[in-house]
This record gives sequence, C-alpha cells and structure tokens, in this order.
Amino acid sequence: MKHSITRCVVAVAVQCLIVGVSLAQMQHEAMHGKTFSKAIAVLSPTKDQKAFGIVTFTVVENGVRVIAERAGLTPGKHGFHIHEFGDCSAPDGASAGGHYNPTDMPHSMPASAKRHVGDLGNVEAGKDGTVHLDYVDTMISLTGEHSIIGRGVIVHEKEDDLTTQPTGAAGARVACGVIGVAKE
Ligand code: CU
Ligand code: ZN
Repeated sequence: MKHSITRCVVAVAVQCLIVGVSLAQMQHEAMHGKTFSKAIAVLSPTKDQKAFGIVTFTVVENGVRVIAERAGLTPGKHGFHIHEFGDCSAPDGASAGGHYNPTDMPHSMPASAKRHVGDLGNVEAGKDGTVHLDYVDTMISLTGEHSIIGRGVIVHEKEDDLTTQPTGAAGARVACGVIGVAKE
C-alpha cells in the first residue's frame, strides 16, 4: 500500500513537471513570439486610387532590410509608414489606425532614435510613378514585443514632413497592405 502511494505521488509530480514545462514554453512563445527572418506586405490601392506594390522586410545583421517596389503613384515623395492594425477593410484605409507606436514616442524621421516604430519616412516616385526603395531600418523588428508582423503598411498621397504630430501631414492613404510571414 505504502509503495503504491509513493509511486502515485511520483507519477503526479512528473506529470506536473511536464505540464509545467510546456506551459512555460507556451508562455514564452506568447510573450516573445516566434522568430521570423522575412516578412512581406502586398499593397493594394484604396478606393479610387491606383497605387500598388510589394514591400519585403528581411532580418540582416544590423537591422531589418526594407525593400519596396511600388507603382501607380504621382511623382514625388509619399509618406510611408507601418500602421497599428493590419486591417485594410475601410475604403480609405482608416481601419489601419495610426502610426505603429508601441513605445509612445513622437512622430519623426527613420533616422531618429525617438520616433514611432512605424515611421519609415517617405518613398519617392519617379516620373513614371514607380518606387524602388532599399534601406536597412534599425528600429523595426520581426520578433518580440514590438514585432511588425500583422501590422499594416500605408503609402500616403503627400510627403511626410517628418515633424507634424502625429501624422507628418501626409494626407490621404493611397495604398494599404498587411505584413505577413514570408518564406525564407
Ligand atoms: Cu501613414
Ligand atoms: Zn509617425
């Protein structure tokens, strides 16, 4: 009798340990997210607009490389941001919310240490309306608490002046996309 009780206690303890370990692992994943090395957003025009394109985000040694290929824009600079929500359902793109700002910082330029995480500045379209942007951003991340995966990407009608709070006065939203996990 005594022997079987001991065995029972040991079995329960082992089971608790197993459940405890997997719970801890689940908690860790929920808190820190999985590790992704590449993400992609396919941008579609908002209502009555023509802008479309593809933006990729790839983890590199010193940050995240952002490559944007866009077309259908008016020539000149256009505000380019990561917005809080990966929701392009509203015809004007308003459902994507404001600039992604998990650290409660002011709106600024990409090179600033005090900026919205989503402040990617501007893209510049040539005379033919196309954009080719390729730079490494040191603030955005594909992993952890401030991961951009699942957030929105917005291209604006006008130039982001990099100072007006909290939007950069970039005007209407002409294209919207959702950042998803890409094949590495
Ligand atoms: Cu924006
Ligand atoms: Zn901003």
